[in-house]
Amino acid sequence: MKELDTAFLNRDILSIDEFSKEELMHVLKTAEQFIDQRNHAHLLPGKIMATLFFEPSTRTRLSFEAAMKRLGGSVIGFSDWKDSSVMKGEDLIDTITVVDGYADVIVMRHPQDGSAALAAKHAKCPVINGGDGSNQHPTQTFLDLFTIQREHGSFDNLTVGFLGDLKYGRTVHSLATALAHFPVKMYFISPESLRMPKKLLEHLSKKAECHEAADVMEVASKLDIVYATRIQQERFQFEEDFRRVKGSYHLDKKFLANAKPNVKIMHPLPRVGEIKHEIDETPNALYFKQAHYGLPVRMALLNLVLGASR
Ligand code: NCD
Repeated sequence: MKELDTAFLNRDILSIDEFSKEELMHVLKTAEQFIDQRNHAHLLPGKIMATLFFEPSTRTRLSFEAAMKRLGGSVIGFSDWKDSSVMKGEDLIDTITVVDGYADVIVMRHPQDGSAALAAKHAKCPVINGGDGSNQHPTQTFLDLFTIQREHGSFDNLTVGFLGDLKYGRTVHSLATALAHFPVKMYFISPESLRMPKKLLEHLSKKAECHEAADVMEVASKLDIVYATRIQQERFQFEEDFRRVKGSYHLDKKFLANAKPNVKIMHPLPRVGEIKHEIDETPNALYFKQAHYGLPVRMALLNLVLGASR
């Protein structure tokens, strides 16, 4: 336990594939201690977290900020790069080098794949990737795993369907990579133009049973969990390509009628029509609970990285 704690000290969190199965489980275990959100302000007093968000965010930024405050630390940063000196032409490396001198940990979201790794190279303090382009979103994965463990019980013999924009969806790339540590089956369900990147699918197929499908109804009865995602409109080069796939899939009561009775529906949010509101009140809907689990999970990550003694 102590050894695993040490493994996280001052560590960057850039990509989920940098974590062993044991380390993934350690984060989930640590997060259990923060499920009750009170009385943890003695853990990180005086510590400062900088949130540098070069792309829109609601859940990731706010839950990180809430997590830091619940742990007794404080927060600086910006949620719109137009409020920063990047607007004046400053490059990312200069911004990071400067903020590194003000904060104990940096949480960054940026549209460019690999930007978090670049930031980490130039910062002495740990950098946590809050999403880099269509590449990775590791902290979302920790909270997704936490949700599955708490709400489904275990990862063994799980059949998960990933639905939607599997090409650009960084949450899918991270979660599928983490799930491949376990004996799971994965179905990748998407329009033809939004299929999983070939290289990643090949890599995952070596570790877990993977299938592709075009229509969620074809595989509905097999799934324990459906992880739906939004089409990442901002990553499309041509508006026309987006319009061709817009609205091409959704989950509704008809899907539920064809699915396992206790199928769990997850979504990193925001949704823009992929899950009809008629599902919200059913016991199958997990997405709001999932978003709320972001708080204990991010408290656990900050606590581990900044090395508070519990
Ligand atoms: C996701 C993201 O930013 O990748 N949002 C989130 O962090 N919960 C998903 C998305 O934007 O579609």
